[in-house]
Amino acid sequence: MAKSKNKSIFFCRECGYESSKWQGQCPSCKEWDTFVEEPVIKASGGRTVVRGEAKEPSRLSEVRLEEETRIHTQIGELDRVLGGGIIVGSLVLVGGDPGIGKSTLLLQMCRNLVAKNCKVLYVSGEESVRQIKMRADRLGSFEQELLLLSETDLDIVADTIARLKPDVVIIDSIQTMYREEIGSAPGSVSQVRETTSTLLRLAKGMAISVFIVGHVTKEGVVAGPRVLEHMVDTVLYFEGDGGAAYRFLRSVKNRFGSTNEVGVFEMRGNGLAEVANPSEYMLQGKPENEPGSVVACSMEGTRPILVEVQALICQTNFNMPRRTAAGTDYNRVSLLMAVIEKRLGVRMCDMDAYINVAGGMRINEPALDLGIVTAILSCYRNQSLDSQTICFGEVGLVGEVRAVNMAEQRVLEAARLGFERCILPEVNRRQLELSQEQLNGLRLIGVNNVHELLEVM
Ligand code: TYD
Ligand code: MG
Repeated sequence: MAKSKNKSIFFCRECGYESSKWQGQCPSCKEWDTFVEEPVIKASGGRTVVRGEAKEPSRLSEVRLEEETRIHTQIGELDRVLGGGIIVGSLVLVGGDPGIGKSTLLLQMCRNLVAKNCKVLYVSGEESVRQIKMRADRLGSFEQELLLLSETDLDIVADTIARLKPDVVIIDSIQTMYREEIGSAPGSVSQVRETTSTLLRLAKGMAISVFIVGHVTKEGVVAGPRVLEHMVDTVLYFEGDGGAAYRFLRSVKNRFGSTNEVGVFEMRGNGLAEVANPSEYMLQGKPENEPGSVVACSMEGTRPILVEVQALICQTNFNMPRRTAAGTDYNRVSLLMAVIEKRLGVRMCDMDAYINVAGGMRINEPALDLGIVTAILSCYRNQSLDSQTICFGEVGLVGEVRAVNMAEQRVLEAARLGFERCILPEVNRRQLELSQEQLNGLRLIGVNNVHELLEVM
């Protein structure tokens, strides 16, 4: 596309698609009303900081894999979501709501890295070096020097990086960084895209690992540009319930490891502490034998986590019943309520329903279905499920309870925590081959459909 001076250009906020005119619907990602206007960038793209020399292509057979070394952060939960440590020369985006603990986590990581004699540069566009020092003091003593830079001009940052050649760089946050050549405001699509691509060139060209902090907007995407997610190697989201102390670090994209791994942290007065045993943690404070409270099991990557599902069902006072779902998918809850109404003949259409996954964790796994249905029925019938029962399984539209993956891990986790009954899909139950010792007194109850679920409740 030809770019001329003093003109503006339109970007799709969702996918970064460029267009010379405003459009109602993005032709690329088909989202509506996502175009934003920004001034045109000079076509040259400005100053290039590191120039790649002309290179000989490598032969596949000669590429050595050992060269891909990982730096361990000494924070087990962070290493887990990164896929075993920081890959040299990788670009990692850490997204999350403001105040969730991104800066704290990264500063803690810096502390561990400098202790291992890594050269780390922490660039903050949001805080002064004094503020960073104050935060660092809360976290404890730093054994080795950490280099701090309070700067928002990315060209200066890039020059500093090129001069110092650190092993790891933290950019906190990408929305505060700007390049002068680009006319638009910091945080706009073109700024974020351009600054990230500069950092990408630096990371790959000089084998520096770069962590980029990105704030999340109300819609739940990194402000403005989804584009960012395509450019980086790894995308981590830091999330949690504002009120609760738990924080979950989730990997949603990882070129060097599995996605959907979750790291669990607790925010304390002296920084973030790792939670090695999330199930016990999530079930803390669970009420005993109360109607509407059910323990379910969700897989987070390779790790089973038990959570409490709560339901509150009551007669509505509105024309349209109110429904909310915290920590899980709203549409899924509506669908499950329709299944209960149609297949079990329980009148749900004039009931308000509030569903909550306690503890601030977000679960979108179908295996939670049986827990949600059980919690709804338990509250509706005012009949408590005994506290030593856990359930998991997917519920289909005809009320059938379908098999889920990794049933064995889920059952073992329930057994480990000393539960007595496990309600699970009958198909899964038949396939399990577990010894009495492994079951540790856990009784398996298979159900084929929601009718059988009612019977065993
Ligand atoms: P912060 O890392 O600044 O969040 P982000 O960078 O994602 O915006 O975290 C800020 C919050 O964490 C703030 O509300 C204070 C709290 N906090 C603690 O509770 N304990 C601590 O040791 C620190 C450093 C922060
Ligand atoms: Mg911060």
